[in-house]
Amino acid sequence: MEKNNMNAIRLNTAGLWMVFAIIMSFISHFEVADASDPSPLQDFCVAVDDPYSAVIVNGRFCKNPKDVKIEDLVYKGFNIPGDTNNTQGAEATLVDVNRFSALNTLGVSMARIDFGPFGLNTIHSHPRSSEIFAVLEGTLYVGIVTTDYKLYDTVLRKGDMIVFPQGLIHFQLNLGKTNAFAIASFGSQNPGRINVVDGLFGTMPRILDDVLTKAFQVDDTLIERLRSQFSRQNLSINTTGRSILQLFAQTTNDCTN
Ligand SMILES: *[C@@H]1O[C@H](CO)[C@@H](O)[C@H](O)[C@H]1NC(C)=O
Ligand SMILES: *[C@@H]1O[C@H](CO)[C@@H](O)[C@H](O)[C@H]1NC(C)=O
Ligand SMILES: *[C@@H]1O[C@H](CO)[C@@H](O)[C@H](O)[C@H]1NC(C)=O
Repeated sequence: MEKNNMNAIRLNTAGLWMVFAIIMSFISHFEVADASDPSPLQDFCVAVDDPYSAVIVNGRFCKNPKDVKIEDLVYKGFNIPGDTNNTQGAEATLVDVNRFSALNTLGVSMARIDFGPFGLNTIHSHPRSSEIFAVLEGTLYVGIVTTDYKLYDTVLRKGDMIVFPQGLIHFQLNLGKTNAFAIASFGSQNPGRINVVDGLFGTMPRILDDVLTKAFQVDDTLIERLRSQFSRQNLSINTTGRSILQLFAQTTNDCTN
């Protein structure tokens, strides 16, 4: 990985490619994870926030199985389109264990992805699961980036399916003037999602300019511009007080105390 990163830093000048290079080094840490969630040890383990039964298997606390009703095992609303009125013109609605408690310990989840005209499901990866993705309406340009920075891309039409391997960066762009729609399945109750641009420019607190200006080989005004375009966070929150020197001083104090 290290060698690949160095090559990428030398070869690439455009900012977008640097985004890939940096995120790839994050992604490599996740590749050691299991290919899917552990096998369930019981029929179901409907998640509860209140651990009154105090049983935890390999996910969240379980509702006492004696109290589980059919309603606990049913999720409604998957037919409702996501709101695509946003900067990307697309919305991925992930029905994972956080939305559907019955998925707890079962190792599966699903998503619906709605695209407005020319909408983009932005460049992202799922650290804990592979994905199988089916186009039900529309025509999408899709791409996958491998750990050696090779791009696999193609155009998918209604009825086509593709796989996005665990941890690899991928995206889908609607090529049509009309809405598009896809569904995706995952081998995890909680596949997770890291958007590449948010992972760099939308973190809280911010990744310090010292890091980003060096990584991208640009000055801090461009970094600030990228932040303002891509951050989902409240940019007006003042984090200018943070600096490497300050952090350095703090850790030095920790050592001497
Ligand atoms: C889309 O969102 C913007 C602001 O977020 C709002 O002004 C506009 O009315 C919305 N358009 C539709 C069609 O909902
Ligand atoms: C962003 O933070 C500022 C200052 O804390 C606050 O006044 C503003 O309402 C926040 N905006 C949003 C959209 O949360
Ligand atoms: C932001 O924080 C820094 C350091 O704490 C301070 O010097 C500066 O005045 C603050 N800026 C704003 C706009 O509040």
